Amino acid sequence: MRIVVLVSGTGSNLQAVIDAVKAGELDVEIAAVGADKHGTYGVERSAAAGIETFVVNFKDYADRGEWNHALTQKCLSYAPDYVVSSGFMRIVGQEFIDAFDGTYINTHPALLPSFPGAHGVRDALAYGVKVTGCTVHIADAGVDTGPILAQKAVEVLPDDTEETLHERIKVEERALLIETLRRLAVQAAN
Ligand code: GRF
Repeated sequence: MRIVVLVSGTGSNLQAVIDAVKAGELDVEIAAVGADKHGTYGVERSAAAGIETFVVNFKDYADRGEWNHALTQKCLSYAPDYVVSSGFMRIVGQEFIDAFDGTYINTHPALLPSFPGAHGVRDALAYGVKVTGCTVHIADAGVDTGPILAQKAVEVLPDDTEETLHERIKVEERALLIETLRRLAVQAAN
């Protein structure tokens, strides 16, 4: 199974996938890692791991539609079975969703459909929930919407900050992403 991974940030979830592949624990080929801006650590660490990288810089395009078209074409050029958004902080357009219909996977640091959006951890904490978690799902054109593949609950501790809670969620999020990719890879092989 071939995947393209999209990142906007540090790519620590991606690093867990890279490590699992290297350790022979995940039968997946990371065809490329792409970002929506220059200078992300996610791209840097992928290049260091010998993975092909690309940037489709949002700011280089006249509008969202043109950027979305370029991103779609770039991802299609790797003929991936799945595209994985791992901390990719841009909403893709319908052209992308149509090109990767049912094969665009997103991870989110909350138990969807609760707390979608860019601040899922902060919003859960502000609401005062005692349990939150992470979700791996097939992404559609909405913000963190689409069929759920897997979820894991994480307890909110009394003195949690956004940072401490997010770190504990990310531990589960990494494991959940790897587990889900493993399941999809087995399905793809059969
Ligand atoms: C993850 O929790 C992801 O779900 C969220 O941002 C985090 C990405 O972290 N949108 P990293 O870039 O993998 O370190």
